[in-house]
Amino acid sequence: MNVIRAVARGCGAYLPERIVSNDELAEKVDTTDQWIVERTGIRQRHIAAEGELTSDLAIAAAREALAMAGLEGNDIDALIVATSTPDLTFPATAAKVQAALGMNGGFAFDVQAVCSGFIFATSVANNFITSGQAKRALVIGAETFSRILDWEDRGTCVLFGDGAGALVLEAVEGDGTAADRGILTSHLHSDGRLHDLLYVDGGVSTTQTAGYVRMQGKEVFRHAVTNLANVVNEALDATGLKADDIAWVVPHQANKRILDGTARKLKIDPAKIIMTVDRHANTSAASVPLALCAAVADGRIKEGDLLLLEAMGAGFTWGSLLLRW
Ligand code: UT7
Repeated sequence: MNVIRAVARGCGAYLPERIVSNDELAEKVDTTDQWIVERTGIRQRHIAAEGELTSDLAIAAAREALAMAGLEGNDIDALIVATSTPDLTFPATAAKVQAALGMNGGFAFDVQAVCSGFIFATSVANNFITSGQAKRALVIGAETFSRILDWEDRGTCVLFGDGAGALVLEAVEGDGTAADRGILTSHLHSDGRLHDLLYVDGGVSTTQTAGYVRMQGKEVFRHAVTNLANVVNEALDATGLKADDIAWVVPHQANKRILDGTARKLKIDPAKIIMTVDRHANTSAASVPLALCAAVADGRIKEGDLLLLEAMGAGFTWGSLLLRW
């Protein structure tokens, strides 16, 4: 049976120029390189320059993705930016990106699902494409988390970084089997009861400020491994594929121990996990597309490879996508 699939045409990444090492952070808060590496796997993070906005990061990543796809802004009819650190309360950061890319038609909007944002936004784009409402979609995960960190809270400020990643998807007819290229299945979840374990202590209608990240790390960690393992199994069950069929896992990069723990639980070879948390830290919605682009750029991900994308974040939100590259 012929079906429409959302097939990846290109991806792009952007990381701010400034790199901040663990040692540099240890000069400001009571921490050490050893603690950060042992507990998280993070060695450094990129931090946006003063005046460098989430939209600037998104535009740079989008331009690279469009170039790889051989397309221009006007070729895109759906643009979705996943971010929790928008330039302004409104309009959407996506609208600014749309104008900068010279995309004069179609529609653009933001999705806010924190660290799961890219999985949610890609899933939304997939629905537009498979329903015939869009032919080409540009999905971007972009964050300047450095702007919502309490730089005196060692429990959170060492964990995050800034960056953006982008993915161009295009409608292509497939056979309707798991051998098709494109997105094969997507699974989204949220549980608002866990809101207080990870949140920002400010907002438009509460404090009229942006607020700072607050997290009960240990609790988040515990839920992460269980939820991620479940949502990966859900994707495999939906397609009849096995863990062994996965060429690469492209996970949200929060903590190396979460990635290792999930891989163990799922009996997936750790060598198949794309790991950028050491260089990028946790870039929230940008982390999955940044990891994806890194592995495409260095030649690990090749056409036809089965990829498993997964993430979990505040809300709680979590989700997975199976995508044949
Ligand atoms: O992307 C969204 C999802 N977010 C996550 O997935 C994050 C999930 N959580 C984690 O990654 C981990 O829980 C953390 C890395 C945040 C913390 O690791 P942990 O092993 O759970 O440590 P802990 O919070 O239990 O803290 C252990 C100790 C505490 O000291 P005491 O009470 O044992 O004396 C902390 O005060 O480590 C202390 N600590 C630090 N020490 C040095 C906390 N942060 C630091 C730090 N440097 N930066």
